Amino acid sequence: MKTVIGNWKMNVGTRESVALARGVLLALRGKKAIPETVVCPPFTALAEVRKIVARTHVALGAQDLFWEDSGAYTGEISARMLAEHGVSHVIVGHSERRALFETDEMAGKKAAAALVAGLTPVICVGETAVERKAESQAVVVKRQLVAALSPLKAKGKDRVLVAYEPVWAIGTGEPATPNDAVAMHAFIRGFIAESFPSLTKRAQVLYGGSVDGTNAYAFLREKEVDGVLVGGASVKMKEFGDVLSAACEVIEKQGV
Ligand code: 13P
Repeated sequence: MKTVIGNWKMNVGTRESVALARGVLLALRGKKAIPETVVCPPFTALAEVRKIVARTHVALGAQDLFWEDSGAYTGEISARMLAEHGVSHVIVGHSERRALFETDEMAGKKAAAALVAGLTPVICVGETAVERKAESQAVVVKRQLVAALSPLKAKGKDRVLVAYEPVWAIGTGEPATPNDAVAMHAFIRGFIAESFPSLTKRAQVLYGGSVDGTNAYAFLREKEVDGVLVGGASVKMKEFGDVLSAACEVIEKQGV
């Protein structure tokens, strides 16, 4: 199964979110084989987008959550509140949040809270340009994985998505090469198998960072790449439609 997630970030309001959600449904209409598709609007648009994607193959995701269930945490949104809104996936530890607001440990608490509420966490990991230059990407990603996965107690049907998003590739128009992605995905998969064997079967690894309509196929056709997490191109309907079509084509060709 291939997964395509659109992270709309803070780029769209409710009206645009609704239009994008309609566009996603249109792009998938009539396709024989479709990827698992998740759209992640801003919090304020979740309720309206839910109305569009309810009872379709498109799932609703959020961009963040807080780890406590309820209480005096002004401005925060809990996993339970998201679940109440029909949310099934939640992005955790995005590099844009790590840069400004949160630590590796906080990402772990958030991922654990997501699972407890029955949500699928999409845990983002990835090195900066400086860290890549110093060839420390494996060390950095390992540290982020340990912090994010250690608190998890997955059971039943729980799933965990890991998104390898090198910071230098996000929003730059300069994606990693598919080879770079494959190498890091293999590393991530190997590390999870070795250090978190109970998660091995539940974890899928997605690539994110300047994925668009023209390069999505090259990533998605790789066996090591379970899917893509798309930012900028996911708020341009034509581009995102092309990403979805690329995923459909790979699934049809490879029967995955
Ligand atoms: P871009 O696709 O704009 O590079 O962003 C990727 C991303 O951050 C998805 O979470």
